[in-house]
Amino acid sequence: MGDPDYRDTGLEFPAGFVFGSATASYQIEGAHDADGRGPSIWDTFSHTEGKVFNGDTGDVACDHYNRLDEDLDLMQDLGLESYRFSIAWPRIQPTGRGPANEAGLAFYERLVDGLLARGIKPIVTLYHWDLPQALEDDGGWTSRATALAFGDYARIVGERLGNRVALWTTLNEPWCSAYLGYGSGAHAPGRTEPAAALAAVHHLNLAHGLAVSALRKVVTNNPDFAITLNLHVFRPDGETGPEAVRRVDGLANRLFLDPVLNGTYPQDVLDDTAEITDWSFVQDGDLELIRQPLDVLGVNYYSTNRVRMWDGEGQKESSDGHGAATGTAWPGAENVEFLQQPGPYTDMGWNIDPSGLEDLLVSLHDQFPELPLMITENGAAFPDTVEVDADGARRIHDVDRIDYLRRHFTAAHRAVARGVDLRGYQVWSLMDNFEWGYGYSKRFGIVHVDYDTFERTPKDSSRWYAQLIRDRRIPP
Ligand code: NOJ
Repeated sequence: MGDPDYRDTGLEFPAGFVFGSATASYQIEGAHDADGRGPSIWDTFSHTEGKVFNGDTGDVACDHYNRLDEDLDLMQDLGLESYRFSIAWPRIQPTGRGPANEAGLAFYERLVDGLLARGIKPIVTLYHWDLPQALEDDGGWTSRATALAFGDYARIVGERLGNRVALWTTLNEPWCSAYLGYGSGAHAPGRTEPAAALAAVHHLNLAHGLAVSALRKVVTNNPDFAITLNLHVFRPDGETGPEAVRRVDGLANRLFLDPVLNGTYPQDVLDDTAEITDWSFVQDGDLELIRQPLDVLGVNYYSTNRVRMWDGEGQKESSDGHGAATGTAWPGAENVEFLQQPGPYTDMGWNIDPSGLEDLLVSLHDQFPELPLMITENGAAFPDTVEVDADGARRIHDVDRIDYLRRHFTAAHRAVARGVDLRGYQVWSLMDNFEWGYGYSKRFGIVHVDYDTFERTPKDSSRWYAQLIRDRRIPP
């Protein structure tokens, strides 16, 4: 297995492996009321006192909406081969229903064409959490109508861009949308109802299926279809560890993988949650709709969790890394204890464990041998400092981020060497941005953003990454 530190250099990636970077609409675009965009649940949530650190909002964010050409040039300078971005539903349909807003479609068309002109492959995420507020007012993801509306939205986008997007991913991390949005309340819309979180899981799964099926009918360039999941890596602790893993793996992983890839819901999870909901929102035919043939599974990976059952004694530990909130992100698994992991940690307090990425990729490949994988996000927040050189140039020597990326690229390479069909790696994130409940306090970018001037400054990590892309080998 080589160096247990995952700090290998010189490892070469296979031909066809796509090196890129990722962002999301609400986190970078700003221009929250430009050109007919309607409000999203994140506009409402971030403008509600006490929900986001420091009262930060995405009103202006990185002002990417107004700096599109500059940002496209930046991607080209880094040599990115792909760029994963999301489309803001409320720019396309301001209330989530009805006719398309031409200005919204035109913006994303300009983005896609700008990428193609620079030889960068567009990877489109249809939903990265900015639900039109009007749909939330009618129940949001707890309502079946939202899933149906999503299918229509996917059709509209597909009709416009479905001749030039190479890879579509429907949802980003539906785990977060459901459990943080409706369970723990740490994310928009900030509801804390366990039954609502489980209804949201199903309607998000349904939305995925409806979107793939709608897209398939309108696209003309034979693209790939994917969903992006934040599959959790759970390590069992002690005697009750395996039972704890069964429960949280059911909620976090199997409630998405099983319906999407196998057309079933795991019976043990339905049993675990029977007192919360009877799952009557699952209608006949839904599972067939959810199970659509997929070309790629998108994997977002950051860290691992260690779990055991809580014995009711003392303070229960809940270091699950998903932020403080009043509700639960684990309906039916409230007695699972998330233990503080050994360090080192990133600025998010997440433990750095590249072996989790290798394990996850290998385990997915074992379970679904025919399904290619792509890392649709991996990266790290660190408290960067900007130094000014004698010649006045700004420098960010983000050695921690380079070390994190080196270890995780090494882990990915090891998975490839063990036979995993891994198609690419999208580093989170191209630039510092709005980190949800943490506002602008956490910096994930390989490019620094000055939030006063909006100046972009490539960090050392972006130069390291550019060299990796050029050489297709992990640099020293
Ligand atoms: C997952 C999410 O998709 C993304 O929006 C977020 O910024 C990163 N992880 C880091 O937390």
